Amino acid sequence: MSKIKVKIFNDYKLMSKTVANEIIKRISKKPEISISLPTGSTPIETYKILVKESKKLKLSFSKVKFFQLDEYLGLSKENSMSYYYFLNYYLFKHLNFDEKNICVFNGLTRNLEVECLFYEEELKKTNGLDLILLGIGNNGHIAFNEPGTPIKAGTRVINLSLQTINANSRFFKNIHDVPKYALTMGIAEILEAKEIFLFANGENKAQAVSNALYGAVTKNLPASYLKNHPHVTFFLDKKAASYLN
Ligand code: PGA
Repeated sequence: MSKIKVKIFNDYKLMSKTVANEIIKRISKKPEISISLPTGSTPIETYKILVKESKKLKLSFSKVKFFQLDEYLGLSKENSMSYYYFLNYYLFKHLNFDEKNICVFNGLTRNLEVECLFYEEELKKTNGLDLILLGIGNNGHIAFNEPGTPIKAGTRVINLSLQTINANSRFFKNIHDVPKYALTMGIAEILEAKEIFLFANGENKAQAVSNALYGAVTKNLPASYLKNHPHVTFFLDKKAASYLN
């Protein structure tokens, strides 16, 4: 039996509000929290609420240690398709993060090994993240850990799967513009976090969510590795939960 807690919400808005409030609670309790937050369509409403509520509460992010979950290879921070750009657009520029507490990937690095080692070292200094929020790919990936990723995989370069390239092409003008490679936090580091949230909305996530919860722990569905962790909560809208019993 999986120890994963599952919370189901009537709609995306309610799911987003709850996730934002759970993040706020943890930052209020531990201002120096180390945290990793994702990009994509799923987090947009959560981040809008997080920013609005944090401002209302005058919540300080100045001590929050932020780690980027993943980044496309070959895109600069200024490129509007980069994940850094997304995080800056929805989070960094609105909240008073201290730049020195933000650990991000350099998508333009020419030395991949050094880039990954630097990131891993920074992560080690935090002694494992306090909280990671994850989306889930419709192929079951978490961060950019694609199907086939071994459980012990660390921070590294990944060859994006065709399914992910197809899914993410909706953000680009042309599918050929979607980068083929990315940098990602590994499964090993994700599982070292003290607490993990995964959120998903929409029917296109229902199969992956159900397989992650009910299926075997397998490298073919990286989200299933979360079953090995004692403190995981899934936040789902009704559609993403539609294949659950
Ligand atoms: P999405 O991406 O939020 O855009 O659906 C999630 C993911 O691929 O991890």
